[in-house]
Amino acid sequence: MAGYILALDQGTTSSRAILYDDHARPIKMVQQPTTLQTPKAGYVEQDAQQIWQTQISCAHDVINRAGLLATDVASIAITNQRESIVIWDKQTGKPLAPAIIWQDRRTERYCQTLAVEKVTNDSDEDMASEVQRITGLRLDPYFSASKIAWLLENNPKLSVRANRGEIAVGTIDSWLIYKLTGGEHVIDVSNASRTLLYDIHKLAWSQELCARFAIPMNILPKVLPSDGDFGKTKKGLFAKQIPIQAVLGDQQAALFGQGCLDAGMAKNTYGTGCFMLMNIGQKPKLSEHKLLTTIAWQRKSMPTRPENLSFDQIVQSGKRMLQPPKKEVTYALEGSVFMAGAIVQWLRDNLGMIQKSSDVEDLARQVDSSEDVVLLPAFTGLGAPYWRSDISASITGMSRGTTKSHIARAALEAVAYQTYDVLIAMQKDSPHPLTELRVDGGAANNDLLMQFQADLLNVPVLRPRDTEITAKGAALLAGLKTGLYDEATMRASWQVERIFEPTMSSDIREQHLNKWKQAVDRALRTI
Ligand code: G3P
Repeated sequence: MAGYILALDQGTTSSRAILYDDHARPIKMVQQPTTLQTPKAGYVEQDAQQIWQTQISCAHDVINRAGLLATDVASIAITNQRESIVIWDKQTGKPLAPAIIWQDRRTERYCQTLAVEKVTNDSDEDMASEVQRITGLRLDPYFSASKIAWLLENNPKLSVRANRGEIAVGTIDSWLIYKLTGGEHVIDVSNASRTLLYDIHKLAWSQELCARFAIPMNILPKVLPSDGDFGKTKKGLFAKQIPIQAVLGDQQAALFGQGCLDAGMAKNTYGTGCFMLMNIGQKPKLSEHKLLTTIAWQRKSMPTRPENLSFDQIVQSGKRMLQPPKKEVTYALEGSVFMAGAIVQWLRDNLGMIQKSSDVEDLARQVDSSEDVVLLPAFTGLGAPYWRSDISASITGMSRGTTKSHIARAALEAVAYQTYDVLIAMQKDSPHPLTELRVDGGAANNDLLMQFQADLLNVPVLRPRDTEITAKGAALLAGLKTGLYDEATMRASWQVERIFEPTMSSDIREQHLNKWKQAVDRALRTI
């Protein structure tokens, strides 16, 4: 089957469209920036129309610039920033408020209050535990539920219209699909699992949680498997109606694109924040160490051979005796760190230490070590595994001889230390020992950081040739669904560019880790 996959990658700071050929090779990419608005402290918003306009314009552009026609595109795949929400009019398709972005913390107090409430008057369980039991997540403003609740509570008109079934709410994938198809109100299961409203065991919206957050269930999208049929593009949008056949939240797409298809395999994406995900197989396991349990994907399994039959019997039966494929769910453990590349942006934009982010490596290399300097990047508190929004950022251990280079090195080390903390929590939760870490995202190109990461974790860090892993993950899933790709394409599409082997002695590793631990403990104590 010939054709191309058009992957739409809607991220926090840009919309991108990438075309993949029939060997899952990227042939053209177009990107447009999007604007984040911060109208008040803790608020982070985006114009939902801008998200749509930039995304569709990239989609048209990439086809043109590749010298192709829409008729050459077999399928559309979508991957997106997760948890962020859009609310729109079901009739007109117009957004009714700015999109509230995952980084928005306006519902901090609401979440803190709700977390300690009892589930019922005579129950011992508090809401924080109930939320984790049902959704695998934490009761935190990061997720979608409290953002939707805030919108309805603060806009009485919206609340009335919601009860009348006139409005729709969705994550960014839902919003794009609605606009692309001209009316489908659907969401993929990996995105649904980030809303704090989805029961990851029953695979359905949770009635209890929707009631608790006062969110009418009729405004929520229909949940589909990640390789489900999400609809076709509406007439006139492209020269042909293109089917949308794969949708994944961006971190889950990266896990898929990194080829982490077996339990125990993990990847870390170094973007604005850091998101480490480990495939934990077909059974959800709730974290006991403050990590998240999330749905990685739900997809059609391969037809399997019943254990009592030989291959010969199967072949003779013309493969009729194969067990039919079912929609299998794969779960992941996730550690979300809020500040990674954003620390380097802070050095660049707030301190003016560097001109562009990639300059940080040269600056850091001017010294052999950060000496006693520790940069604790709690600019918006610390995420996993601490989940402390009440502590603030600091630079400690400076002396008269401290230079910009020591601070730059400490900034990179902070990214690696946070990843180390997440990995330790993950090792305690998961029965699978980590034997390697696959990496991607902008800061994965920083060799100094990757070597320090391998040294701290004491496992090899593998950087693939193609670091555009997020879009590729979604494209691979769409290609597998359409039959354009097979498992061989999948295997060939991941090639290692460099392996960073750990070389640090255990004594030195301990010294580094102690320095970090002391800085964290100090910050936690001073509250
Ligand atoms: O959970 C938030 C994450 O999906 C955002 O990713 O790459 O758009 O910053 P990114």
